[in-house]
Amino acid sequence: MSRTLIAGNWKMNGLRESLSQVEAVAAAVGGGEASVTALLCLPATLVALGRAAAADSALRIGGETCHPNAKGAHTGDISAEMLADAGASHVIVGHSERRADHGETDSVVAAQASAALRAGLVPIICVGESLAEREAGQTLARVESQLAGSIPDGVGAGDFAIAYEPIWAIGTGKVANTDQIAEVHGAIRAWLAGRFDASGAETPILYGGSMNPANAAEILAVPNVNGGLIGGASLKADDFLSIYRAAI
Ligand code: 13P
Repeated sequence: MSRTLIAGNWKMNGLRESLSQVEAVAAAVGGGEASVTALLCLPATLVALGRAAAADSALRIGGETCHPNAKGAHTGDISAEMLADAGASHVIVGHSERRADHGETDSVVAAQASAALRAGLVPIICVGESLAEREAGQTLARVESQLAGSIPDGVGAGDFAIAYEPIWAIGTGKVANTDQIAEVHGAIRAWLAGRFDASGAETPILYGGSMNPANAAEILAVPNVNGGLIGGASLKADDFLSIYRAAI
């Protein structure tokens, strides 16, 4: 799999009729090895159907969260093993919406990332500061403490991805500027080098937050940006494919 990853996050959007968008992305991505990995992380109800819609294509399908445990009495939750069984290859963990809506702490996120690895999935571990933290000059400290708390012990640098998603840029149309992105991605890369030595260069670092066809090329050209995690603009095949093509 390529280190460059263009990932969609459909969040709580999508009915079976939306599978036509998955089919359109799959048809455009095609089969065979690509220089950029395309991934759509879908609501749990659509993972198996999405996998079937993307059959014979290099498009990967992922989940949006997972429980730390493989199975058990956790009503409404979904395990990494279930996502893998449905055909997922990746799972997002620690998205700021999960951290806010479900009180998921760094240690929960680390356990979810471990679960993903146990099930053979690639975890995409999300970090990012709030507007108040940015205005207080705490951005790098916040992101570094999330990295320290959310990346599990024993993981290899090439086994997971990081997504930097400034909370104030998510779904707001306010995209971080290239200086802000470069600063945080550079700090994440330096942190990874401190934890993993030279292999810290292998971890894809994705940017997320109001990425769209108009700003994708500029963002993807920023040093240490190895792809994107795209919300709203991933719901339409044409928009997602424009971003994917900007990465190739
Ligand atoms: P938007 O692209 O809609 O801002 O969402 C970003 C995001 O949260 C992806 O995980």
